[in-house]
Amino acid sequence: MPDLSTSYLGLQLKSPIIAAASGLTNSLQDIIELEKHGAGAVVLKSLFEEEIVTEMDHELNKMHSENYLYPETMEFYEDYDVEDTLSRYLKLINDCKENVQIPIIASINCLTAHNWPYFAKSLEDAGASALELNISVLPSDSELTSAENEKVYFDIISAVKNEVTIPVSIKISNYFSNLAGMLKRFSNAGVEGIVLFNRFYSPDFDIDSFDIVPANKFSSSDDYIMPLRWIAIMSDRIECDLSASTGVHDGTTLIKMILAGASSVQVASTLYKNGFAHIQIMLQELSTWMTSKDFSNINQVKGLLSQSKSINPAGYLRIQFMKHFAEK
Ligand SMILES: Cc1cc2nc3c(=O)[nH]c(=O)nc-3n(C[C@H](O)[C@H](O)[C@H](O)COP(=O)(O)O)c2cc1C
Repeated sequence: MPDLSTSYLGLQLKSPIIAAASGLTNSLQDIIELEKHGAGAVVLKSLFEEEIVTEMDHELNKMHSENYLYPETMEFYEDYDVEDTLSRYLKLINDCKENVQIPIIASINCLTAHNWPYFAKSLEDAGASALELNISVLPSDSELTSAENEKVYFDIISAVKNEVTIPVSIKISNYFSNLAGMLKRFSNAGVEGIVLFNRFYSPDFDIDSFDIVPANKFSSSDDYIMPLRWIAIMSDRIECDLSASTGVHDGTTLIKMILAGASSVQVASTLYKNGFAHIQIMLQELSTWMTSKDFSNINQVKGLLSQSKSINPAGYLRIQFMKHFAEK
């Protein structure tokens, strides 16, 4: 039986499958089940930057209200359960530390480095093993330069790194004009890992009602192609770990991601569709494949098909179909 353990963000994971941040990683009961079914770690459902900042404003307003009373503001906050959201999150981390052995990675959805990074320390103090920053900047403002959009990422990384000693990873999209350069700069900025790539809420159209409706929230099993290419291109070129996210639905894709150089994969859609037991099925496929190829541990597999080790490095860079355009 091959050893399926892996190192990710300096943490020792018993398996390379991480339960990605989602509604499935929001309760102790589910996290206990994920551990039982073989998850190597869990990324908790994200807190939002806005939730943290609103809580801080709430405290300020409470102070003001003692002297000046702003009834409308206080009414708004009375209905807003943000304080509970934050304390529930910290309690969940605490409960996980007492009830499961696998690393618990806290997660924050953030857009700016303003006001919230101090809160990262509370996550560390509650017992989080690492912190994943889901940085989601949609570069849709045509007045902003690429440099201005990019600066946000480095401001956030530096502000959070100033607050915590636990490992920090960032989860990003592929919306960069110079993706390879940015990945290198993120790694040089000191993050311990990068998750490639997040899958965002996307708008779609209803052509009968003319409404904007949410596109399918789950990935398809072909979506792994984009992270596979970029992990293979970058895994030998940067210091930090890479974790594959989006479209990892089965054992074969898990194997491909490790061959590309991923230290771990993160799964959400396949767990929604197939249940937690699917983790064991994927791990069994990895184990059977490793045995058939005489591999005894993950390090022997990791990066074997990265671009730098390939006999056909140009194959990773091709973006036009060439030959296929000529075929019917
Ligand atoms: C219902 C749902 C909720 C999610 N919530 C979060 C979240 O809170 N934070 C986050 O970083 N990603 C979140 N994601 C994204 C997933 O963590 C994951 O990156 C994405 O779904 C791609 O992986 P998959 O193809 O395995 O689904 C969510 C995804 C789904 C489907």
